[in-house]
Parts: sequence; C-alpha cells; structure tokens
Amino acid sequence: MTSLAYVAILILGILTLFWQLFVTFKKIWRLIDPNYVILVDSNIASIGQSLQGIIDKYAPDTANYNLVELGCGRAVVTQHLANSNNFKKILAIDSESNIIAAAKKLKPNPKIEFLVEDIFKFQSPKPSIIYCYLFPRIMSRLYIERRLKGNLIISLTFPIKGVEPTEIILIENLPRLRFTQCEIFVYDFRTKNHPEGSLS
Ligand SMILES: C[S@@+](CC[C@H](N)C(=O)[O-])C[C@H]1O[C@@H](n2cnc3c(N)ncnc32)[C@H](O)[C@@H]1O
Repeated sequence: MTSLAYVAILILGILTLFWQLFVTFKKIWRLIDPNYVILVDSNIASIGQSLQGIIDKYAPDTANYNLVELGCGRAVVTQHLANSNNFKKILAIDSESNIIAAAKKLKPNPKIEFLVEDIFKFQSPKPSIIYCYLFPRIMSRLYIERRLKGNLIISLTFPIKGVEPTEIILIENLPRLRFTQCEIFVYDFRTKNHPEGSLS
C-alpha cells in the first residue's frame, strides 16, 4: 500500500471517531436540554378505562364538550376517546409537524381535527375536556398563562405544581417495571371557586 492510502485510511479513521463523538454528544445533550421532548405515547391499554371513568363521572354529557389533547403526539388517547364518545369538537394539537403526520398515518377517527401549533399560542374552546401528558414545567406554564381555565383537565403522571387536584386516580394493573403513567390528576377548573393554590 502506498503512503497515500495510509493517510487516507488515517483521515477516514479520524473522521469516523469525530462523528461518533458528535453522535454521543448529541445523545447526552438531549438528556440535559430542558427543551428537548422525548416522545412517549400514553399507554392506552392501562389508562383507557380510567380515562373513560373520569369522563363518565365529570362530564357524562360529552355532546356538550370539546375534547382537546394538548401536545397530542400520535394522539392515541384522542383516538381512543373519540371512538367511544360523541364530542362536540375534537382537537389534537402538537408543535411537531412530523409527529402529526405520524398520527395521521394511524388512520385516526375522521372527527379529529389535527393542528400543528404551539400550545402556548392556543386557547381551547370552552367547555373542553383537556388531556395532557406533558412535563411539569409545561403544565405550570399552561396554568399560569390561564390556558386551562374553565375546563376539565386530565393530566397523566404530572400534577400542576402548587394546585390541589380535584382527584388523583391511581392506575391499577400496571405492566411490570412501570414507574410512570401510574397516576392521573384531574383538575376541575369549570367551577369558579376552585382553590387555585400558589402559582410559584
Ligand atoms: C410525552 S408526549 C405525549 C403524547 C400524547 N399526548 C400521549 O399522551 O400519547 C408530549 C408531546 O407534547 C408535544 N409538545 C411539547 N411541547 C409542546 C408545545 N409547546 N406545543 C405543542 N406541542 C408540544 C411534543 O411534541 C410531544 O409530542
């Protein structure tokens, strides 16, 4: 082999090493970047029945309600609830167009209206049943910016900091080794005198 070939192999080796370092750095950065969102679907098999129970208890007259999923991902929850209830309007919102495209590929219920939009620029129609599976800081901001006001909120896993939930539902029959999606927090903000708690 000529010395030129050795140099080429060496350069290729160095470039591969740098590429691997870059990929590893990106993975680590995702873990620490507070704005990075890991897409995890709600486990509809374990929470579906509880969600329906909440609707039956708090808003059985579904025809008078809109269903809104803020940060819908692939909208598995909206899809499930849309198929078993008759809502006035059904909105599934996510800021990521590729995620909405993936949701549409699941052949969703035709009543679902998908919006590619930032949930902090969106005001839900009232009255709505709003489903969220969003990080606590996002829930807090939605609450502080009054985007949940006047509606029935169902939040999987994450409570709103400093706000007393109307009810906490524990999920039974969890799959083994499950550490999240064990609780559902219900906030009934339809009532004017809901104790709103501290906003800190
Ligand atoms: C954990 S996933 C939940 C997906 C779905 N709601 C479910 O329960 O299966 C969170 C979703 O929220 C979306 N999201 C996060 N921040 C958002 C924002 N500001 N505006 C719109 N969507 C947002 C992400 O793109 C992601 O799809």
